[in-house]
Amino acid sequence: MLKKTLAGIATGALLLGAAACGGGDDEGGGGSDGLVVGFAQVGAESAWRTANSDSVRDSADADDRIADLQFVDAQQQQEKQIEAIRNFITQKVDVIVLAPVVETGWTDVLTDAEQAGIPVILADRGIEEADEDLYVTRIGSDFVEEGRKAGTWTVEEFAENETTGILQLEGTVGSAPANDREAGFFEILDGEDFSYELVDSQSGDFTAEGGKAVMETFISTHGLEDIDLLYAHNDEMGLGAIQAIEEAGYEPGTDIQIIIVDGSKAGFQAGVDGKLNYIVECNPVFGDQLMDLVVQVADGADVEKFTPVVEDAFGVDEFEAELPNRQF
Ligand code: AHR
Repeated sequence: MLKKTLAGIATGALLLGAAACGGGDDEGGGGSDGLVVGFAQVGAESAWRTANSDSVRDSADADDRIADLQFVDAQQQQEKQIEAIRNFITQKVDVIVLAPVVETGWTDVLTDAEQAGIPVILADRGIEEADEDLYVTRIGSDFVEEGRKAGTWTVEEFAENETTGILQLEGTVGSAPANDREAGFFEILDGEDFSYELVDSQSGDFTAEGGKAVMETFISTHGLEDIDLLYAHNDEMGLGAIQAIEEAGYEPGTDIQIIIVDGSKAGFQAGVDGKLNYIVECNPVFGDQLMDLVVQVADGADVEKFTPVVEDAFGVDEFEAELPNRQF
């Protein structure tokens, strides 16, 4: 089967022009060999991302309706994603799946995909509203809602404070989860009778190194005395910051309360160890749902513009019981 014969071919070789493998227009959505799908993934910046890539690859591999998934790791660079999409167009894949690293800058390449008659599905992150006609559907998280959950917990937890000092560790600048997690969080804080000061807000680019570096600089210039809460837009940045906090002689989870978003095993373990206080789940395991969407979209079926994945949030009393359930 085509899927098996292509499985071991490196991405680079595929990008150089395996034109023959694309189903193209003539095969439509579901030729006898199955669908060829191009997936431009963000990168490998976090445990969340690795779990998401595994989920998509495993689901494609197990699905007889999919002949081949051409996977490109764009190393968090939009140019590499644009290059990958252009190669998918040249190869006439049946469907393009894009997890856009940032929200803007997609108009030209997605217009090219549209003109080539190749439908685009967004997986995980979204793009700016002005371009929403250029993709068929998005599957992923409601990042604004994730931010609201973090905000709701904050308002309840610090209700008795005269004012609450907050430090925010943002994700990649211009990315949907960074923009939306911030928007949802402050929508709740600003909508309540709640006094806070955003003492600083810096990007750690969704990486542990980034989170640690921001925290080290912050502690060395300000100390932590006027900070009650660290709101980290993902686990890696939160865990990196925890390391910096401990190295500076403070107790994370006690001297400063910490919220993280994702909910990896490592994140929950830090919670069980008393080093953080609230976890907002972001669910990366949607490969099966994505494959169903790919087939529907290739067949020209009507699909919802947005398919949210199911997500929860967890407080300290739930960390221990939830840890064994974590999938990544
Ligand atoms: O887009 C989802 C976000 O991307 C996850 O929260 C983060 O860990 C990843 O890098």
